[in-house]
Amino acid sequence: MPQVLSNARLAPLDAPEDRLIEAGAVVIEGGRILWAGPGAELPGEFTGAARQDMEGRLVTPGLIDCHTHLVFGGDRAGEFEARLNGASYEEIARAGGGILSTVAATRGADEAALVAAALPRLDALIAEGVTVVEVKSGYGLDLDTELRMLRAARALGRLRPVTIVTSFLGAHACPADYKGRADAYLDEVCLPALRAAHAEGLVDAVDGFCEGIAFDTTQIARLFDAARALGLPVKLHAEQLSHMGGTALAARYGALSADHVEYATEADASAMATSGTVAVLLPGAFYALRETQAPPVAAFRAHGVPMALATDLNPGSSPLHSLVLTMNMGCTLFRLTPWEALRGVTSHAARALGLPDHGRIAAGAVADLAVWDVASPAELCWRIGFNPLHARYRKGERC
Ligand code: NIG
Ligand code: FE
Repeated sequence: MPQVLSNARLAPLDAPEDRLIEAGAVVIEGGRILWAGPGAELPGEFTGAARQDMEGRLVTPGLIDCHTHLVFGGDRAGEFEARLNGASYEEIARAGGGILSTVAATRGADEAALVAAALPRLDALIAEGVTVVEVKSGYGLDLDTELRMLRAARALGRLRPVTIVTSFLGAHACPADYKGRADAYLDEVCLPALRAAHAEGLVDAVDGFCEGIAFDTTQIARLFDAARALGLPVKLHAEQLSHMGGTALAARYGALSADHVEYATEADASAMATSGTVAVLLPGAFYALRETQAPPVAAFRAHGVPMALATDLNPGSSPLHSLVLTMNMGCTLFRLTPWEALRGVTSHAARALGLPDHGRIAAGAVADLAVWDVASPAELCWRIGFNPLHARYRKGERC
């Protein structure tokens, strides 16, 4: 039986224009949107359907967090303190801390412990209207733990009403026993783990970290070749701390997204526009690491590169558990407009995950919706540390 959400201020995000539909209606059936538009134009066949009055609230697509490291063991509060005392993120990483300290804690946690630790983080996102979350591996760096992280991620999607999309991030860092032998790590551990995880149905996309403290472009190209051989889409942590050429490489492979991209250039933006690669901006990491180089938003705009926004939720560079706050940070730190921020956590985030039927309110799309006690995208982005969610619908169910 169809149901109608009526009297909504609809932000459909289904077209390039910033468009609000006053007194809008959304018709839902079987977890999909059947129709959306001005209530006055509701087709006659739905006028007798069950109604829920949105009382003029803003209704957006459910939010999509397209870049997280939600599953991990331990914490990095000590590293936070060390950075306050002057140590840099790269210094800590080179001294064997940083990502590698989370690797040690994650290797020591079984699947149940990883799931139990991740659930409160996931619940914080869900409480703000998030309906799709991408989760990466990358704190295992050995076959068993990489697979365990991905199994834990899939388990989260069975425990909560949320869609989980996984990315294999075995090329996140070189583990201590392969120090200085990144190619051997790729051949002996990372690529075999990727193939095993894929065989188990655990991988939706392949990610890497292209940086001086991680892998270079030649190594990432080998990873992407392996992904291509398996028919898996790719994405990349690129140009976060320096310009390594990862963005151009990602564009050459038709990557879904290049993420961070603070040091990306105009030429990178042009390459991304040609390949349709989304720029995923991560203001939480920019803020937490006190970076000063902001991503080239003007170049992305000029070249028509879709920009997404995500939390990058992780224990080191971005312990950020709020996608609503991320929108505020995208506006304040990167000068996005509120509509760009909203697009960044809905339609563009869906594109970054290769999910064309998510992130917009239009006939045929999945009925993931967020209902807000606000009147406009600007009001949604404006406050710092306030959650205005009124209701959340996932696949048509209010939950
Ligand atoms: O996206 N840049 C690399 N990876 C993560 C950081 C992970 C960590 O510090 O634990 C990021 O910022
Ligand atoms: Fe990340």
